[in-house]
Amino acid sequence: MKIGTPKEIFEGEARVAMTPDSALQLQKLGHECIVETGAGEMAGFSDADYKAAGVEVAKTAAALWKAADIVAKVRVPSDAEMKRLREGQTLISFFSPVADEDKMAAAAKKGATVIAMEMIPRISRAQKMDALSSMANIAGYRAVIEAGNNFGRFFTGQITAAGKVPPAKVLVVGAGVAGLAAIGTSTSLGAITYAFDVRPEVAEQVESMGAEFVYLDFEEEQQDGASTGGYASVSSPEFREAQLAKFRELAPEMDIVITTALIPNREAPELWTEDMVKSMKTGSVIVDLAAEKGGNCKLTVADEKIVTENGVTIIGYTDFPSRMATQSSNLYATNIRHLMTDLTPEKDGVVNHDMEDDVIRGATIAHEKEVTFPPPPPKVAAIAAAPKKEAPKELTAEEKREQELAAFKKQTQTQVGLIAVGAALVLAVGLVAPASFMQHFIVFILSVFIGFQVIWNVAHSLHTPLMAVTNAISSIIILGALIQIGSSSLLITLLAALSVFMASINIFGGFLVTRRMLAMFQKS
Ligand code: NAI
Repeated sequence: MKIGTPKEIFEGEARVAMTPDSALQLQKLGHECIVETGAGEMAGFSDADYKAAGVEVAKTAAALWKAADIVAKVRVPSDAEMKRLREGQTLISFFSPVADEDKMAAAAKKGATVIAMEMIPRISRAQKMDALSSMANIAGYRAVIEAGNNFGRFFTGQITAAGKVPPAKVLVVGAGVAGLAAIGTSTSLGAITYAFDVRPEVAEQVESMGAEFVYLDFEEEQQDGASTGGYASVSSPEFREAQLAKFRELAPEMDIVITTALIPNREAPELWTEDMVKSMKTGSVIVDLAAEKGGNCKLTVADEKIVTENGVTIIGYTDFPSRMATQSSNLYATNIRHLMTDLTPEKDGVVNHDMEDDVIRGATIAHEKEVTFPPPPPKVAAIAAAPKKEAPKELTAEEKREQELAAFKKQTQTQVGLIAVGAALVLAVGLVAPASFMQHFIVFILSVFIGFQVIWNVAHSLHTPLMAVTNAISSIIILGALIQIGSSSLLITLLAALSVFMASINIFGGFLVTRRMLAMFQKS
């Protein structure tokens, strides 16, 4: 089949749905590729690059739409593009099926198939095709860069000859894909980063990225991302009040606020209110990623940057991915290429539009003259939710005591058994060995036993200090061995040399391991 990519006609859109690299991969699936002349120019890909990758270059959009069996593009098709869509053709693009219902119906009526990229379900298998996530990832990164560009200070704290610079404080509201990307970028730039989300299961991810999760003093049933396709659902008014109270407390301290909170198919929830903006310091920056859906801050003006009376900059751009067009085109084109891999299972250039496949079914909104939106819920649970652990059964005090007693009995039996075996062995050796040897041998066995007990019961987190203790013991061994190494007996000399060798491995190995562990926590 022939896959074609036109030049985006939405004003300012710099992304392109096919790159020379993705075209090479599509050709390996048995497809031919065609692009409209200049399609990749704003993303840094020239016609010559496409030609070098074996892609045909069409002179006009009309020629491209006519030649292609499958049209892959980025933005929702314009009216003119809709007119070009024809029966039997497949369109792969962002489509916003709810807002553009008429276009969806028109495509179905024509007999065209439409795959809406934002409808790819958020399940593990579909991650490689999830264009919403790949674009949100870029938006999160860019939001921090944009904030930095409008913020008059460093992100990281510094002590310089000219004075002390405090680190910037960044709050990220909504730790979904964009939020986590923003958190990662902000912490790596050295800012003190805080994050909040209604889904408590993301707290661990937030903390593992070096940010602090903002907890509320509020008990509410945990939201289950799996049942809502990996997205949040609406929280109660009481929860919202608790959340706003917490934000009000944080607002005067924060230098940068990045809001990404979203509940699918709804207006963005208002989370950063006017009074919070007023209480922020002059020079602070808010980047409202939800601007397209009304904004998490109602002062946000979509596609614009404004400065409030108290000197707070509010950025409401809705084209962050397009502002990094090369990167986003690469990722988007890869998402489409993976989708095409699913659609071409035999790699023979023949598309098999399998409506039994969760991912293909979920994203198809028009097929065989019918509107196929909304899709049935995916059979596989979403990736965002952690598996629910079964709550441990509550035990009565009596049951608990019985359990402890049984465990103690078992442990005692094992220990008595081991001591009996050890004693029998010592007696057996004592029958043949001289008395002077037995004295040392018993001390040796006891020290092995005590050492084992001590080390075995140490918590893993304390293994580094423990290593310092074993290093000290190794030093004592080396001292002892050095005293004995000059002995006239060859056996003693050999044993002493062996002790020096093994204790040295322990000491230097310990230093090496500690060094590597410390390096893991050092910022390069
Ligand atoms: P997502 O669904 O992965 O994340 C949204 C997060 O917000 C979820 O973790 C959810 O639990 C959380 N959330 C929902 N209600 C909340 C509340 N009341 N308080 C705190 N957290 C709440 O969405 P994703 O993909 O990260 O996108 C985030 C936003 O960024 C969306 O609004 C999206 O439209 C926007 N976006 C903007 C772009 C731009 O150029 N401006 C580009 C790409 C995405």
